[in-house]
Amino acid sequence: MTTLTIQSFQNKYDVNIGTGLRHEISDLLKSNYAKVFIITDSNVAPFYLKEVISAFGEDTAVSSEIVPAGEGSKSMACYSSLLDRCLELQLDRHSLIVALGGGMVGDLAGFVASTYLRGVDFLQMPTTILAHDSSVGGKVAINHHKGKNLIGSFYSPVQVIYDTEVIGTLSNQEIRSGFGEVVKHALLSDHKWFQRLMDTTLTEVNQEELVKHLTSGIKVKAEVVEADERETGLRKHLNLGHTLAHALEAEFGYGEITHGEAVAIGILFAMKISEQTIGADLPFQSYTRWLRHNNYPLHLVSQIDPERTVERMKWDKKTVGNAIHFVLLTQIGAPTVTALTDKKLIQIMTDFVKDEGGTFD
Ligand SMILES: NC(=O)c1ccc[n+]([C@@H]2O[C@H](COP(=O)([O-])OP(=O)(O)OC[C@H]3O[C@@H](n4cnc5c(N)ncnc54)[C@H](O)[C@@H]3O)[C@@H](O)[C@H]2O)c1
Ligand SMILES: [Zn+2]
Repeated sequence: MTTLTIQSFQNKYDVNIGTGLRHEISDLLKSNYAKVFIITDSNVAPFYLKEVISAFGEDTAVSSEIVPAGEGSKSMACYSSLLDRCLELQLDRHSLIVALGGGMVGDLAGFVASTYLRGVDFLQMPTTILAHDSSVGGKVAINHHKGKNLIGSFYSPVQVIYDTEVIGTLSNQEIRSGFGEVVKHALLSDHKWFQRLMDTTLTEVNQEELVKHLTSGIKVKAEVVEADERETGLRKHLNLGHTLAHALEAEFGYGEITHGEAVAIGILFAMKISEQTIGADLPFQSYTRWLRHNNYPLHLVSQIDPERTVERMKWDKKTVGNAIHFVLLTQIGAPTVTALTDKKLIQIMTDFVKDEGGTFD
């Protein structure tokens, strides 16, 4: 088992990463809880809920709620019914809320934990690759119909217990999605790691390599958030690929493209802007080949309507005034933030969408 310790502005917490950790919760947990409320989703529950319930000791009263799988559950309605459930169960300040699932469950359960009784303890048990990113850093949120993650708060877990064995039941699409954020962390930090990823076929990654990628990813995220928990400076770099990603998710619908797939394509666009505006020399072609080799939905790029997409970006909460702020790369490991006008952005995006002549088909 690997343990990383993260210092947030609210607390200090451990991230335990290893195989089979879901069976060792009662040994790993730092405190005892009389009442535990597990929030999970309808895909994760059939595989792991029973095991996790029985991993808590007999002295603990464990309840659970299964929300429908999918981004639709990060809603006001679902949030509200979970709060009803917390009250029904008479959870108090000494209770623990557990997020057993991917980033969706983590964000939703975390937001419940951050607001119920002004905050109760919260344990993250990530079950996706993508959740290596979402489970660390203390951002929790639900969606509004105007956009993703518009209602939320900063709230750190008391601990993260990451059992890498559960990745075994993820679909290829979700593996691809998770690696979108892994690629982001590699590009923000380390040329060699990025190269290693470019030599990787995602369906062939073994447990040992997976643990390395996840641990490295968590380290990058942790270093950035430790330096800047409230997103004033450095943390903005973690938005690499995300400005276009959020627009793509909204444009094509939450069913058509996953968050991490959208991020992977958003990163390609950020590379294009970096080349055209700050003259960076980045591996645009080899990254495009890697995306295609691993079946990222590049065909959607040719369906992008630049003007509408730029309009959508302005709804994104990273917009300051009229200019859209983009995280670019001067080189691998060296991010920077640049403001771009609508006009410039539409011009580069038009180019991006059509000039690759067949690349995205
Ligand atoms: N808080 C943050 O800092 C942060 C960062 C990045 C992303 N996010 C959020 O995370 C969400 C995306 O996370 P995600 O990609 O993990 O999505 P997700 O939680 O929706 O999981 C993806 C799919 O995989 C299923 N699943 C999860 N674990 C499984 C397992 N072990 N075996 C089989 N199926 C499994 C889920 O039921 C779901 O259908 C988005 O809501 C995004 O906004 C938050
Ligand atoms: Zn993300």
